[in-house]
Amino acid sequence: MMMTNPPSPHPLRQQLGGRNLHLIGMMGSGKSTTGRPLAQQLGYGFVDADCVIEQLAGRTIPEIFADDGEESFRAMESQVLRAIGERHSLVVANGGGVITKPENWGVLHQGIVIWLNPDRDQLIRRLQNNPGTRPLLKAPNPTTALESLLKERQPLYAEADLHVPIIDEQPDEVAARILDMLPGILNRQVNQGEPQTTAD
Ligand code: S3P
Repeated sequence: MMMTNPPSPHPLRQQLGGRNLHLIGMMGSGKSTTGRPLAQQLGYGFVDADCVIEQLAGRTIPEIFADDGEESFRAMESQVLRAIGERHSLVVANGGGVITKPENWGVLHQGIVIWLNPDRDQLIRRLQNNPGTRPLLKAPNPTTALESLLKERQPLYAEADLHVPIIDEQPDEVAARILDMLPGILNRQVNQGEPQTTAD
């Protein structure tokens, strides 16, 4: 019988010391599609925070918004994030609005925060292909709603440790770029003793 050795752990795994990688960014920025290959390559687990919320609530996100309102959804989101923060070695795809609650940053910054930032036109295209699942874009003009959220949130996303602008790369390519950029972040954190906001 042919025996194969288990894949050797990615060299970054040890350097990360179990710290979670939190993907943040607007709806449609590719947090889940990028998070899966990223986790796989690192030998990390993958969690989609929105899916955990839906499982806990036994309802979809549009149903939670419709029945209980956004505030109630945000409370669940914080609760789920705290529970995720108790675990280690995870890539987490966070909902786009997780950055709006200051209390969430305490948990996010225990790990490494990575902002996926496709350009505006690409975001609009992606969201047009997948309408109806995002309650905050259920507006007479979804593009205007997206633009005003973007404007409001950009300074918050910019608090991330790592900024990943995306032009038209596929999720696998974005994951590979993140793996290339992580050592720089880790070195800076070691040298300066605190997380850095970095760019491109
Ligand atoms: C939201 C983003 C959604 C989901 C909810 C609210 C937001 O997640 O959490 O609809 O406020 O931006 P995705 O970013 O995964 O679409």
